[in-house]
Amino acid sequence: MAIVAPSLLAANFLRLEEECKMLNESEADWFHLDVMDGRFVPNISYGPMIIEFIRKTTRKPFDVHLMILEPEKFAEEFKKAGADHVTVHIEACPNLHRNIQQIKSLGMLAGVAINPHTPVQILQDILQDIDVVNLMSVNPGFGGQKFIPYTLTKIKTLRQRIDQLNLNVKIEIDGGVTLQNAKSIMDAGAHILVVGTTVFKASDPKGVIAELKKL
Ligand code: DX5
Ligand code: ZN
Repeated sequence: MAIVAPSLLAANFLRLEEECKMLNESEADWFHLDVMDGRFVPNISYGPMIIEFIRKTTRKPFDVHLMILEPEKFAEEFKKAGADHVTVHIEACPNLHRNIQQIKSLGMLAGVAINPHTPVQILQDILQDIDVVNLMSVNPGFGGQKFIPYTLTKIKTLRQRIDQLNLNVKIEIDGGVTLQNAKSIMDAGAHILVVGTTVFKASDPKGVIAELKKL
């Protein structure tokens, strides 16, 4: 069964409390929280303060996706704000192993995200140390973009490697996930679906989440 992680980036922030309530009542597994710094990606979203507010509305796990440079400066702050998992970008971390250790020592699950142009093979020597790989299926920075089809090949390659090594690493797909392509993504070997636009712009968001859960 797919782990469904709606991304609040596509939510209506004027009605944030109701959006969170909807997710609470839905079959969504995690809240996916996209943090952007305007430096690693060409957009700015929100930070720990907003996450702290959202934390008051739910007990579901917080999957915090840091699209920021120097994430080590903020890991502790996100933990305090309520993060359960923190994912950092390999492209933003010259000392990635240290970032992973820091996240784990704070008692959180550690994820590594890679951009569409970054080969999955780069994860070879870090795979045994992490809990989640976020394979970006769009270029990070914005919601509502189109899924890059080559991601399916990357999922297959990575899943094979994980199974070969008998590791408990989950593959998360982030960007452009729809009701139309979700099945092929799961069939390729993914475990977690991040969904922004598909959920929040739907007339029946809970129904969409239920559909995705069936996969
Ligand atoms: C993109 C973010 C994604 C994004 C997903 O930089 O990491 O989580 O919000 O949104 P959709 O599902 O609209 O592509
Ligand atoms: Zn994300």
